[in-house]
Amino acid sequence: MRVTIFGASGLLGKALMREWSGDTVTGLTSHAADIRDAKRVREVVQEASPNWIVLAAAYTDVDGCESNPELAFAVNRDGAVNVAVAAKEIGAQLLFLSSDYVFDGRKTTPYETGDARNPQSVYGRAKAEAEIKLLELMPECCIARTSWLFGTGGKCFPDTILKLAASRPALDVVNDQRGSPTYTEDLARAIIQLCRKDARGILHVTNAEDCTWFEFAQEIVRGAGLSTAVRPVSSKQMARPAPRPAYSVLSLARLQTLGIEMPSWQDALRRYLAER
Ligand SMILES: NC(=O)c1ccc[n+]([C@@H]2O[C@H](COP(=O)([O-])OP(=O)(O)OC[C@H]3O[C@@H](n4cnc5c(N)ncnc54)[C@H](OP(=O)(O)O)[C@@H]3O)[C@@H](O)[C@H]2O)c1
Repeated sequence: MRVTIFGASGLLGKALMREWSGDTVTGLTSHAADIRDAKRVREVVQEASPNWIVLAAAYTDVDGCESNPELAFAVNRDGAVNVAVAAKEIGAQLLFLSSDYVFDGRKTTPYETGDARNPQSVYGRAKAEAEIKLLELMPECCIARTSWLFGTGGKCFPDTILKLAASRPALDVVNDQRGSPTYTEDLARAIIQLCRKDARGILHVTNAEDCTWFEFAQEIVRGAGLSTAVRPVSSKQMARPAPRPAYSVLSLARLQTLGIEMPSWQDALRRYLAER
C-alpha cells in the first residue's frame, strides 16, 4: 500500500511516521505542500499516487482561529477540500482528522458518530464544515474525530504541566471541561488499522475513559512523582478566546465494531511519561 500523510511534522504526523511500517509512506509538511494551494496539492498527490491519504494537516491553534477565521477556514475547510478533490481524481481513499469541537458540549453521555454537529468555536465550525463538504464530495471517505492530543515531539498539555510544575508551587487547572485525552501513538496505531480495514464514514478515535483537564493534570503531576499542588478552577476564571465544550467525550462504539480497542488515557499517560 502507498500512503501519503499531510501534516507529517505535527504531533500526530510524527507518531504516524514513527509507527507506520510495512507500507510505502510519504510524509508532507506545509513547506512541501501548503494545502491551501490546490494546484500544488494535486501535483504532490499525483506524483506519490497513494492508495490512502491521511490528512492530519491543520491550523490547530483553537484560540488563534478565533482571531484569524480566514486562515482557519482556508486551511481547515478549504484546504481539506483541496486534498479530497486531489484524492478523488486519482481514486485514492482519504482519512480526514476531525475534532470533538464539532459538538456543543451540552450532552452528558458520550457523543455518537451520528449526533448533530453544533460547533461553538471558529475551529469547530471549520472542522464541521469540512466534514460536510468532504462527505458530499467523497461519501466513501473516512472521518476520524479525536480529542485532547498529547505525545512526544511537540507542545502538548502534559508537557506544559510538567514544565509549569517544575517552577511553581501550585497550578490552577479547569475542572468544568470533560473529554478524553488521546496519546498520538495510540491514535496513529488505530489510524493505520482503519486504513488497512478500508474503513469508511465517521469514526471516533480517542483513548478510553474520560476526565477533566484538572483530573488529567493531577494524574500527570502524580505520575511524574512531583508534589506540586493542582487546584481546580472554572473556565470562567481562566477565560480564553475560544469557547470549549463542557463535555466532549466521544463514544468508541463504532470503532469497537471494527475490532479496534483503545487503551485508557491513564495507561497511555503512563507510557508517555516513561518514554518522554
Ligand atoms: N491537537 C489536538 O488536541 C487535536 C484535537 C482534535 C483533533 N485534532 C486534529 O488532529 C490533526 C493533527 O493535529 P496535531 O495536534 O498533530 O497538529 P499540529 O501538531 O498542530 O501539526 C499541524 C500539522 O499541520 C501542518 N500544517 C499546518 N498548516 C498547513 C497548511 N496550510 N498546509 C499544509 N500543512 C499544514 C503543519 O505543518 P508545518 O509543521 O510544516 O507547519 C503540521 O505538520 C489535526 O487535523 C487536528 O485538527 C487535534
